[in-house]
Amino acid sequence: MVYNFDEILNRRGTDSVKWDGMKEQFGREDLISMWVADMDFRTPPCVIRAIQERLEAGVLGYTLPSDQWYNAIIRWVDTQHQWGVKAEEIIHMPGIVRGLAFALQCFTKVHDRVMVMPPVYHPFFLVTEKNHREVVYSPLHLNDDNEVVIDFEQFERDIEGCKVLILCNPQNPSGRVWTRTELTRMADICQKHQVLVFSDEIHCDLTLPPYKHIPFASVNEWTSHHTLTFMAPSKTFNMPGISSSFCIVQDDALRERFHTFLEASELEMGNVFSYSATAAAFSEGAEWLYQLKAYLQENIDFTAQFLEQNLPELRMIRPQASYLIYLDCRKLQLPQDELVHLFVDEARLALNDGTMFGKEGKGFMRLNVGCPKAVLCQALEQLKAAIRKKF
Ligand SMILES: Cc1ncc(COP(=O)(O)O)c(C=O)c1O
Repeated sequence: MVYNFDEILNRRGTDSVKWDGMKEQFGREDLISMWVADMDFRTPPCVIRAIQERLEAGVLGYTLPSDQWYNAIIRWVDTQHQWGVKAEEIIHMPGIVRGLAFALQCFTKVHDRVMVMPPVYHPFFLVTEKNHREVVYSPLHLNDDNEVVIDFEQFERDIEGCKVLILCNPQNPSGRVWTRTELTRMADICQKHQVLVFSDEIHCDLTLPPYKHIPFASVNEWTSHHTLTFMAPSKTFNMPGISSSFCIVQDDALRERFHTFLEASELEMGNVFSYSATAAAFSEGAEWLYQLKAYLQENIDFTAQFLEQNLPELRMIRPQASYLIYLDCRKLQLPQDELVHLFVDEARLALNDGTMFGKEGKGFMRLNVGCPKAVLCQALEQLKAAIRKKF
């Protein structure tokens, strides 16, 4: 079956954060929405069907994690990422950010130091702050090849005294897929300083060829005993409105401690749709994902080509995973509020302000290209017209 990613869906009026939440975030509604990280494509038919079957059963009662759910995750993680995990190592999570918050509450104390690597998905530091832990910012760098990299000397200096590293693997907003060498160096430093790692791998299934995702926990024996890995079908199969995440903890003692913490408030319980929707996505969604990734790659290539030909003053950090493009707009030399004004009020586009991901994001914007090509094309034309009018 060939899936139609060109179909234009009207998501306004569906209480969508991305579309109906624009007014509150940007003060206007007449924008093309390219901010929140979900896609303007239909969720795959296999997932919709699984939910419909639940509905048709007619009772929305309490639901157990099924064998199909465990087996689908085990098979998926093995075939996609060559990582062998066992059923007892998997814990349902009502969301990745919630999972990170639970893990912080379980494994750290108030005022403990927690390291994040900005620019990074903002809840990493917001949740840490709101839970009264101290955030240690260890910034990433952009090298001459326009690739986001780690300065390992600085990484080691910064991590000293930290209890936890929250790692974004692959990275959001840059789309960097960390290599085995980079992950191993991070692991060695974490081991030396006895730092527990929460590895958020929500974007991993959207890794684009030829890049290869490596789960942090799979790097070596030490990482397998000192990592909580957070995964989900939510980004991959465009189903983040369903609570479908999970955490893999291979170390028995860590898992026991986390389980006990979660059970005290029944935090790990899924809902009537989560297990079957996830099982369907992972068991039947591979072909859909294959076609999606080809479509996303075309959108990324198209954006690169458009910018090169029409807006050479904007530099894009080419994502190695997922559908988010980090745009370097520093050559425009605009203060951040004017840059945002240019995108929102002149180009009529809703993108994420780069500073949302940390102060390193000054001069950057994040563009979501998980949309039909025609919409992307229109958005880039609007951007071109706004920039040409101003400069
Ligand atoms: C790196 C990262 N983690 C987590 C999330 C959100 O996950 P959830 O909705 O399950 O909390 C996102 C969404 O954009 C993300 O990019």
